Amino acid sequence: CQRPTVAIDGPVASGKSSVGRAAAKALRLRFLDTGIMYRAVTWLALHRGIAAADTAAVAELADKYRMSLDDTADQSPDHGVIAPSSPTTNAAISIDGHRLRDELVSDDVDRHVAAVAAITGVRTSLVKQQRAIGNGGGIIMAGRDIGSVVLPQADVKLYIDASVEERARRRFAQLQEADPSVDFQQVLADTRRRDFLDSQRADSPLVVPSGAIVIDTDSIDFDRSVAAVIHAIRSAVTNHK
Ligand code: C5P
Repeated sequence: CQRPTVAIDGPVASGKSSVGRAAAKALRLRFLDTGIMYRAVTWLALHRGIAAADTAAVAELADKYRMSLDDTADQSPDHGVIAPSSPTTNAAISIDGHRLRDELVSDDVDRHVAAVAAITGVRTSLVKQQRAIGNGGGIIMAGRDIGSVVLPQADVKLYIDASVEERARRRFAQLQEADPSVDFQQVLADTRRRDFLDSQRADSPLVVPSGAIVIDTDSIDFDRSVAAVIHAIRSAVTNHK
């Protein structure tokens, strides 16, 4: 299969987006970080003064507005990248005429996104858009429910993991660049809280999808993580032939 469909799931700050994006670039596949779609809906709800508890109103926003994903970090068309990875790079997305980039990773969005992502109506709309983007293959899609719900027929399923302490350390290092006063214990607590919300929710909780290859990045650096992902994809594609 020349145009593999690859699902990458994993908890917050596991590196799935940056690793997935680098692997996509190397393999000349498209890449979609689905987290920014949940973040965009969250931003729009906050902007309109709609509380996450008003599930019908938030679901209506997700249903009404199609998002357009901008490839701004990597303009080379031959990579066919849909959206650069994660919050920490320059991912951008447009919704209802608003072009969002830094707004996607604001504290406010960080605090509310898990509640918005727990709303079934929101998930239904975004999963439909994600499947349409994934149609035709040749893509690495990263998120929480890609192998389990969005693309259960994916040719390759990966789960990128790391301990909560290591993930909080990585997130802390990123946040510290913008704000030196950031508190590690607070970042650790926030990471635990998001893990809890993402894995305990009723609809599409974070799980290791059946058949997924688990890559633990605690003791390997970024380049090795990317190499492990590329190796897993190449092996699966060769076996399919
Ligand atoms: O990946 P990122 O941390 O940017 O995702 C933000 C939030 O969006 C996650 O904490 C999760 O609640 C939600 N999300 C989701 N399903 C996805 C991607 C993200 O529920 N496929």
